[in-house]
Amino acid sequence: MKKALYPGSFDPITNGHVDILERASRIFDVVEVAILKNPSKEPLFTVEERVNMIKEIFRGKENIQISSFSGLLVDYAEKSGADVIIRGLRAISDFEYEFQMALMNFKLSPGVEIIFMMPRVEYSFLSSKLVKEIYSLGGRLPDLVPEPVDRALMKKFHGS
Ligand code: PNS
Repeated sequence: MKKALYPGSFDPITNGHVDILERASRIFDVVEVAILKNPSKEPLFTVEERVNMIKEIFRGKENIQISSFSGLLVDYAEKSGADVIIRGLRAISDFEYEFQMALMNFKLSPGVEIIFMMPRVEYSFLSSKLVKEIYSLGGRLPDLVPEPVDRALMKKFHGS
């Protein structure tokens, strides 16, 4: 059985993440979405809210699991029994950060395997940061975020 770990902040999950997850779930037997509990970042959604949104989106998809973790990613990957770590790569601007992280993760854990997946072109400009900014300023992106996320963002910023 091959298991992939898909780590990230997912604050919130977007259709770009969903695209990668769905495609990865057709390649691997199990894909575990691992949400980082990051004490140094002030997230918009709590870890519990993020877990619940992702659970709602993937309800019924048996081979997509959701968890949260703290500490080093390579330690969590080993603990969870993952064969590979998946990261999305949207544009050249992502490359430097991802390259640095991948090489540092190899340094920490030489056996770790990291696979990069490109999002579909329609999501290549999408980021959780921009989504939050747009909703906070009264915009809405129902084509770019899953329905539970659209609903949660409307509630968070506009109370409805
Ligand atoms: O969605 P993000 O914020 O780009 O995800 C970044 C994430 C969670 C993959 C990265 O911050 C991470 O792996 N954090 C765990 C701590 C860690 O292992 N740091 C060393 C990275 S080389």
